[in-house]
Amino acid sequence: METITSDIAIIGAGGAGLRAAIALAQADPRLRIALISKVYPMRSHTCAAEGGAAGVIKGDDSLEQHFNDTVGGGDWLCDQDAVDYLVQEAPKELLQLEHWGCPWSRELDGSVAVRPFGGMKIQRTWFAADKTGFHLLHTLFQTSLQFSSIERYDEYYATDLLVDEGRCCGLTAIEMRSGQMRQFRARAVIIAGGGAGRMFPFTTNGAIKTGDGMALAYRAGVPLKDMEFVQYHPTGLPSTGTLLTEACRGEGGVLLNKHGRRFLQDYGMGPETPIGKPVLKTMELGPRDRLSQAFWHEQKKGNMVTTQWGDAMLLDMRHLGEQKINERLPLVRDMSISYMGVDPVRDPVPVRPVVHYMMGGIHTDIRAATPLAGLYAAGECACVSINGANRLGSNSLTELLVFGRRAALSAMEYLASDPGRGNSQAIDAQAEAARARVRALFQKSGGESIAGLRKEMMHTLEQHAGIYRSGEGLSEACATLAALRRRYANIELHDKTNVYNTDLLQALELGSMLDCAEAVAVSALERRESRGAHQRLDFTERDDARYLKHSLASFQGAAAPRVDYSDVVITKSQPGVRDYSGGHA
Ligand code: FUM
Repeated sequence: METITSDIAIIGAGGAGLRAAIALAQADPRLRIALISKVYPMRSHTCAAEGGAAGVIKGDDSLEQHFNDTVGGGDWLCDQDAVDYLVQEAPKELLQLEHWGCPWSRELDGSVAVRPFGGMKIQRTWFAADKTGFHLLHTLFQTSLQFSSIERYDEYYATDLLVDEGRCCGLTAIEMRSGQMRQFRARAVIIAGGGAGRMFPFTTNGAIKTGDGMALAYRAGVPLKDMEFVQYHPTGLPSTGTLLTEACRGEGGVLLNKHGRRFLQDYGMGPETPIGKPVLKTMELGPRDRLSQAFWHEQKKGNMVTTQWGDAMLLDMRHLGEQKINERLPLVRDMSISYMGVDPVRDPVPVRPVVHYMMGGIHTDIRAATPLAGLYAAGECACVSINGANRLGSNSLTELLVFGRRAALSAMEYLASDPGRGNSQAIDAQAEAARARVRALFQKSGGESIAGLRKEMMHTLEQHAGIYRSGEGLSEACATLAALRRRYANIELHDKTNVYNTDLLQALELGSMLDCAEAVAVSALERRESRGAHQRLDFTERDDARYLKHSLASFQGAAAPRVDYSDVVITKSQPGVRDYSGGHA
């Protein structure tokens, strides 16, 4: 097997992976950095981010307010030392992007513009129209091209981490164009592989978001933290699940039921605010968990409009006017016309909640270090945790910058301790075993189809692990997912060739998703309370006495994961009441 040797290997070349690579290359030009991604970097899902990135910049804002909004928005499950680090580093990272050429939208006086965003009390979301992710990713990508020490391995699918004597020493990956397995030896590895929203059938997530990075760490013995917290974004297009950014509401769009009522005022997010005046932290700019839950209740009451794709609410932006929509929300207009046949300048757009983001992920500390020596994680695949039980919109682009860089710095500190490269023979043997496991997939003839299992997994999660959950439903989900994992042993590939074998890749992605899905369902079943995005119909209250804790799901091979708990870091904000009624708690 061909072996590629570097100092640090990074899995994932989206925002977090690129930011980490740049930080490493800048810090020490002698470092050899392998940047490994299953897609070309500009196809990473960071590209799909629309609304913006949060960071304190204006005079009326403060780090303390960004901290408080984030911690309260996360229903006090965030680690507060990590949130402190995030808010402090955020403005520096966003300014750094400005210096690298990110075309932030501007105020008339030329200063960086900020817009209101959900759950934020102050306008602090930097943006580039409604294509922020595209511009951010482009900026990072073009910056990374300056560094010859960053060696890119585009279209390589990572299959296993290589671990020797309790240290991560590299990974194996399939070179997709040849189908050959490669061994990447490294002294440290950073996983920046993105989220796992594709476990669900209706999601804003691109097809690549299949939890591969999470599954790699999980199978290597690193727990997945807080996996029960799955974010629904309130406004996806019913036809495709495509995101209509929260910026629609940040710019003044309102949500209506079929009677034309701004129904959020009936769910503790009133009083009704004047249309056209910016609102903060209430009504349409309440947090995502609360808005999605309000939709669920309105749907039960029969107050939603019917579309050919199911029930929806209406997002009305007509009062913003064509000029503002074209300037601030051009992509929203394009997509509404293309995918729904509705021009927001003239008509309200039907929207409904859609799976958007995993608050949970690979367990890391504030330094982005996992419990496995030499392994770091950043971005959506990681759980630091700054998002707690509910992430505020526009904190994730900031997170991937801040903790992408942090992972790089921590990995460098680790290299300074001279960890070595592990026992070569033992690692070779692991790499061969990884290759054999992949080759074995070609031999299977059990008759289970990838698409069939995937559909059952998606349906199970949507039915039982959605906006509201129950013990009964989650128990059923756990049983079904355990059965699907057993049946996965019998999947049959139809394409047995080597070159760009997407059948094989989808089989591997399905394996990642099934492992992550089981961690979601089991962690959700074990959390017998309601908090943030995890709402139980049978345990409707938040229970700080028992569950002001992070869940840690540990891989147990063929058996269901074991769930343990760890303390939440509370430094200065004691758990309180989340108030989005206009009282601005
Ligand atoms: O609505 C949005 O633009 C999404 C932003 C985010 O998830 O941070």
